[in-house]
Amino acid sequence: MRFGTELLRQSDVLAQFTEDAPRVTRTYLSNEHKQAGDFLLGLMRRAGMNADFDALGNIVGRYEAADPNAPIVMTGSHQDSVRNAGKYDGLFGIITAIACVKDLHDRDIRLPYTLEVVGFGDEEGVRFGATLIGSKAMAGKFDPAWLDKPDDNGVTMRQAIAAFGGDPDRWRDIDRRGKNVVAYVESHIEQGPVLLNEGLPVGVVTAIAGASRLNVRVTGLAGHAGTVPMGARQDALTAASEMVLFVERHCETHAGLVGTVGKMSVLPGAVNVIPQDVAFTIDVRSGDDPLRRAAIAAIRAGCTEIAQRRRVHVDLADLFTADAAPCDPTLQEAFAQAIAAHGIPVRRLPSGAGHDAMEFPAVAPTAMLFVRCGNNGISHHPDETMTAEDAETATSVLLHFFESYRP
Ligand code: GLV
Ligand code: MN
Ligand code: MN
Repeated sequence: MRFGTELLRQSDVLAQFTEDAPRVTRTYLSNEHKQAGDFLLGLMRRAGMNADFDALGNIVGRYEAADPNAPIVMTGSHQDSVRNAGKYDGLFGIITAIACVKDLHDRDIRLPYTLEVVGFGDEEGVRFGATLIGSKAMAGKFDPAWLDKPDDNGVTMRQAIAAFGGDPDRWRDIDRRGKNVVAYVESHIEQGPVLLNEGLPVGVVTAIAGASRLNVRVTGLAGHAGTVPMGARQDALTAASEMVLFVERHCETHAGLVGTVGKMSVLPGAVNVIPQDVAFTIDVRSGDDPLRRAAIAAIRAGCTEIAQRRRVHVDLADLFTADAAPCDPTLQEAFAQAIAAHGIPVRRLPSGAGHDAMEFPAVAPTAMLFVRCGNNGISHHPDETMTAEDAETATSVLLHFFESYRP
């Protein structure tokens, strides 16, 4: 096998750069981000690339075209992970691209464009709440207010970037708009069961679903669990619970929506105290932007009504919004041809998950290749799997794309 076995070995090495072994958790600007980055920079340099961290901690490698004025094609994915993650979400898109470059370099082939491979520092948004930080910065959508966001330990993003060795004030420098980038392509595990169920190793992404996220704070009144009569309570947690179920019911009853509450904290957090302060997140996604916007409006109204009825206060703050991102038809067709050239039926499918690629239409035409995951397609979970055979096929298809693509 040319690529597959080695790519799974690299994934196992990268999984060791984790903040809470034996689980895999690697957040933006952590020591483990640095270690994983150094490992990836080593791979890039051995593959013939000029490679380094950029000002915000993204890992960037360039495989130069013979002509220094040649246009640029960008590829890659994210180095960070959710908490207790799998080994392939994000990382596969970086290492498969480096494997393609290594193969070209070993065969002494230069492309008619410079190929830039990026390992984005943050896509998952775990540490600072801001999401897609690296790709947004490259797409000219970095919000400098993020620099003052603290993590759970009170370290601001600005402090963390400086401690990492980056430069928080140079975020403008990494904007790629107007810099001769002609395409962005990303290979990523599907994170769902469609390819698995159809017996296909790869597929072409048609569009990436849009997302809205809210931070919700519910404020009630703490009191003694033994003395306050049931009818006299202002319990922030029972109110929040009704809001969570409102989100579920709304998304269940409107086809095309998915909604999740994935994080909640309860204070004071004692067995014998009525909850006073509850904070939770809402994540709503859809390929249909008006449907998603209407859902957010309905959820805001529903939570407000629940709060009034239960005599608690609710504050709903926008955390993140991204419209659905259609993939470029010409690049989709180029991926379809690369897949067909491998004798594989071409399956086109949308992405329900978010990806760095969703920010790149602001820079250049964008497309994605999906790779089958095993285990019912489970992801954001340690049971996420992929096979060496599928890593092999996906890398060979991506390489075919790179060698065929003409700017
Ligand atoms: C990223 O993985 C997302 O879709 O939340
Ligand atoms: Mn993910
Ligand atoms: Mn991902």
